[in-house]
Amino acid sequence: MSTSRVAVVTGSNKGIGLAIVQALCKQFQGDVYITSRDIGRGQEAVASLNSEGLKPMFHQLDIDDLNSITTAAAFFKEKYGGVDILINNAGIAFKVADTTPFAVQAEVTLKTNFFATRDMLSQFLPIIKAGGRVVNVSSFVSVYALNKCSPALQQRFRSEDITEEELGGLMQKFIDDTRKGEHKQAGWPDTAYGVSKIGLTTLSMILARRLFKERPNDGILLNACCPGWVRTDMAGPKAPKSPDEGAVTPVYLALLPPRATEPHGKFVSEKEVQTCGRGQEAVASLASEGLKAMFHQLDIDDLNSITTAAAFFKEKYGGVDVLINNAGIAFGVADSTPFAVQAEVTLKTNFFATRDMLTQFLPIIKAGGRVVNVSSFVGARTLNQCSPALQQRFRSEDIPEEELVELMQEFVNKAKKGEHTQAGWPDTAYGVSKTGLTTLSMILARHLSKERPNDGILLNAGCPGWVRTDMAGSNATRSPEEGAANLVYLALLPPGATEPHGKFVSDKEVQPW
Ligand SMILES: NC(=O)c1ccc[n+]([C@@H]2O[C@H](COP(=O)([O-])OP(=O)(O)OC[C@H]3O[C@@H](n4cnc5c(N)ncnc54)[C@H](OP(=O)(O)O)[C@@H]3O)[C@@H](O)[C@H]2O)c1
Repeated sequence: MSTSRVAVVTGSNKGIGLAIVQALCKQFQGDVYITSRDIGRGQEAVASLNSEGLKPMFHQLDIDDLNSITTAAAFFKEKYGGVDILINNAGIAFKVADTTPFAVQAEVTLKTNFFATRDMLSQFLPIIKAGGRVVNVSSFVSVYALNKCSPALQQRFRSEDITEEELGGLMQKFIDDTRKGEHKQAGWPDTAYGVSKIGLTTLSMILARRLFKERPNDGILLNACCPGWVRTDMAGPKAPKSPDEGAVTPVYLALLPPRATEPHGKFVSEKEVQTCGRGQEAVASLASEGLKAMFHQLDIDDLNSITTAAAFFKEKYGGVDVLINNAGIAFGVADSTPFAVQAEVTLKTNFFATRDMLTQFLPIIKAGGRVVNVSSFVGARTLNQCSPALQQRFRSEDIPEEELVELMQEFVNKAKKGEHTQAGWPDTAYGVSKTGLTTLSMILARHLSKERPNDGILLNAGCPGWVRTDMAGSNATRSPEEGAANLVYLALLPPGATEPHGKFVSDKEVQPW
C-alpha cells in the first residue's frame, strides 16, 4: 500500500474541477487524481497538465453509476488506505434556453447534483482518513433558491435536526411535484439546479454534524462552497472568474491546515463562511444575474454600526463617492399600533437615523460626490397639510438643522400626548418623517455650498414614485427598477454638474416645495 497522501476530485476533466486538480498538484504533498466518467476525456486532461510539468493521476469515475463509485472507493482504500481530500465537483446544469420539459430537467439535475453526489459521500466518507477534508462544490444559487422556497420548506432546510432521509425525501418530492406540474403550489422555486444545490448544501451540513458526532477525534472537516460565477462550459464565457479563480475557495477548504477545527459544516464563498443573512441573500440574487455587488453591514438605527461603516469606507476607499440614503420604514395603513408609537418609530429611522448617517458620512463624501436622500411625494403632500406656521418654517431658507430636529421631536411629543393635530401636524407619521428628510436635504445642501464650495458635491432629496415593494404593496404602479431610475439619475449626475442641488426631485424634474 502506498504511504502517499491522496486527493480525489470528481468531474475534473475540465472546468473548475481541472483547475482544482492543477492547483492541488502545485500545493498538495501527495497524489492528485483527475477523475472523469469518460476515460478519453480524463486522459486528455492528464496530458494537458503533463504539458505544464504537472503529474496528476487518473481514475475513471462516473458518479451517476454506483458500481463506478464503489469500484473507485475500493481502489483508493486498497492503494492508499483511504482518501485524504475528496472534492465533489462533478455537476450538471441545463442551459436557460433549453426546452427539455421542466420535470425531466428536475429529475436529471437532481440525479447527478444531489443523489449521485450523496452516493459518493455514502461510499467515500467511511474511507476518509483522520484529518481529511471533504469539499462539496455547491453554489450561491442554493442560497437564492432557498429564499424562494415556502417558509415551511425553508424551515426544514435550515433546521439543525433534519435527517439525511428527510432531505432525500424532500428532494424526491420536488421531482414528483414537478411531474405533477405542482412544484410551485408545493412551495418550490422554479429552478431544478437551485433545488439540487439546496440539497447539496443542506446535505453537507447534515453530514458534518454526523462526522462530529461519530468520529469526534478524527478532525475531518467537511464543507459546501461556492466557486463564484466561473467561465466554464456550464456558465459560459461572460462569467467574471477564470477557472483558476473559481478553484480558489474549494482548494482553500481542501487544504485547511492540520488540526484546524473550522470551518466545518458551513457554506463558504470567497474563503468566508456565509451566514446567509438578508444582505448576503441580496448579493447572491445579483450574483445570479452576473452582477458583483459588495456587502457591508449597516443598521442606520445603530450609531455604532454607522460609525463602523463610515470608518471602513474612509479607510478602504478614502471616503465615499455616492451615498444613497434609501433605508426607510412605514407602518401599513391597517396597522393597529398606537399612533404615538408609529410616530416615534417611523421618525426614528426615516428622520433621526438618516440624519445620523448624514452627520457621519458627509465629512467623508469625496469632492464631486453625490448624495441622494430617498424621500417621497408624500412628504410634499404632508407639508401642504401642516399649519401655515409649520409650512413657513419648513419652507424657509434660514431654518437651521437644530430647529428642524426640534420640530421633528415636537411632532413625536405631541403625538404621545394626542395633541399633534391641534398643534398643526397632519395625521401621518410617515409623511412628517419625509417632510423632515426633504427639509434636511435642503439645509445640508446649503451647508455644503457654504462650507465646501469648491468640492462640487450635489445633495438632493428624490422621490422614487409609487413602487411595488414590501412597503407599498403589489398595487403600486412602478416596478423597483422604475423606482430606482430617478435616484440613480441623481447619483450619477455628471462631473462638473452644478444642479440640481438641495432640491426635491421626482422623475428627474425639480419639484416645487
Ligand atoms: N461555473 C460556475 O459559474 C459555477 C458556479 C457555481 C457552482 N458551480 C459548480 O461547480 C462545479 C463544476 O462546474 P463547471 O462550471 O466546472 O462545469 P463544467 O465545465 O460543465 O464541468 C462539469 C464537470 O462535471 C463532470 N460531470 C458531470 N456529470 C458527471 C458524472 N455523472 N460523473 C462524473 N463527472 C460528471 C463533467 O464531465 P463531462 O465532461 O464528462 O461532462 C465535467 O468534468 C459544478 O458542481 C457546478 O454546479 C459552477
